[in-house]
Amino acid sequence: MARHAPATGIGVVGAGYVGLTTAACLAHLGHDVVCMDTDRSKIAQLRAGDVPVREPGLDELVYEGTGVGHQRAGAARLSFTPDIESLAGCGMVVLCLPTPMDDYGDPDTSAVDSVAHQLASLLPANAVLVNKSTVPVGSTHRAERLLGRSDVAAVSNPEFLREGHAVEDFLRPARIVIGASDVEASAIVERMYDGVDAPIVRTDPVSAELAKYACNAFLAVKLSYTNLLSALCEQVGGEIGEVARIMALDDRIGAAFLRPGPGWGGSCLPKDTMALLRTGRRAGLDFGLVRAAIDVNAQQLDRVVRDVRRAVTGEESGRIAGHRIGLLGLTFKAGTADLRDSPALAVAAALAREGAALTGYDPEVPSERQQAVAEVRLVDDPYQVAKGASAVVLLTEWPEFAELDWSVIGAAANNPVVVDTRGVLGHPDTEQPGIERIALGDGMHR
Ligand code: UGA
Repeated sequence: MARHAPATGIGVVGAGYVGLTTAACLAHLGHDVVCMDTDRSKIAQLRAGDVPVREPGLDELVYEGTGVGHQRAGAARLSFTPDIESLAGCGMVVLCLPTPMDDYGDPDTSAVDSVAHQLASLLPANAVLVNKSTVPVGSTHRAERLLGRSDVAAVSNPEFLREGHAVEDFLRPARIVIGASDVEASAIVERMYDGVDAPIVRTDPVSAELAKYACNAFLAVKLSYTNLLSALCEQVGGEIGEVARIMALDDRIGAAFLRPGPGWGGSCLPKDTMALLRTGRRAGLDFGLVRAAIDVNAQQLDRVVRDVRRAVTGEESGRIAGHRIGLLGLTFKAGTADLRDSPALAVAAALAREGAALTGYDPEVPSERQQAVAEVRLVDDPYQVAKGASAVVLLTEWPEFAELDWSVIGAAANNPVVVDTRGVLGHPDTEQPGIERIALGDGMHR
């Protein structure tokens, strides 16, 4: 059925880290792109040349697209709008909308549904609706029903961008997945990526949607496995860094996602594991493996809190009420300013519940963001967290923490003990003068 003409302009709905990266990268590939977001202040900021999302290389691509500071001003390929009506002329619209977890653990697709509904009367003939948002299995078919247009196809094109690497992951992805029932729509989406060198997987919409959950849940399982092994190392006298180093040399296992930590967090892994669990349940399958990964993640938080109690009082069940504790790192991982579902904040909340007084430093969470972090008094100098502290807890793997003068931290603290949940201070055998270290997964020095 020859019904799809190649798209002209591309509309991108959503200007978060996925939407903005997608819009800027598509403009970089030579497309005319209109990026829409209902947040008028964000659009005003972007129009003024201020990029509200922190991603390496993104500012430059936005400036390149909009012409800000470039010779090509006047021939801008990238523009921003708060009005969905501005997408009326777009032959292709890419949805990059949040699907947060609802009260039952399912993704809330109301933003995607609402936009699909609004686009139904706006899209030109033969348009293609591309969905990058992480949505439940069956959503592409659902979008087609919501559009109610026999001439408009919906295509699943899941994104695999990591926060902090979004531009690199868009322009040099491991694969591009296109899930479509309509062969021509699939070809049009494939052409959107002309200039990106990556294997293209053309598949059906359900497999594409499921693959996204499959990947994130697999990573979560791998991380929980690593974190549980790190607990075992502590019990039996091994060292997780050594175990992981040996595992990583096996190509079948792979080196990535073998770093233990205070648990996995962020806006994706917790939400997507829960969604897969619930999708399985509805299909009559018990994804006990994924549930176990979620449980291990909760236990990991308890383990870190026990380590902190031990650092402060010498006992795993000691009372930390009234003690000052310094926290280094608050974001859910290094390389991002994102605090959503951050394991560091979960640890902070647990310590605060036990009555500890918390001071925290994070290079991306300056004291002006104080209102975002209720339990922790934010400071703008990493050494300040140590002042009068009964322990310092390192929670995010910012490389700059490895460069701190730990003897200064030890001298400022009441009790110079550092709980290193991210292995930032190197192999537990390496001396760190002036401090005592409790490293996650280190059973050799416990
Ligand atoms: C994740 C996936 O990695 C992306 O492929 C996906 O596109 C994205 O979700 C999404 O669904 O949008 P992201 O949320 O940016 O990306 O975070 P990750 O880099 O996957 O890290 C997740 C958590 O695992 C973090 O808390 C991180 O600190 C932790 N982690 C990761 C470890 O504790 N150890 C590791 O070795 C790796």
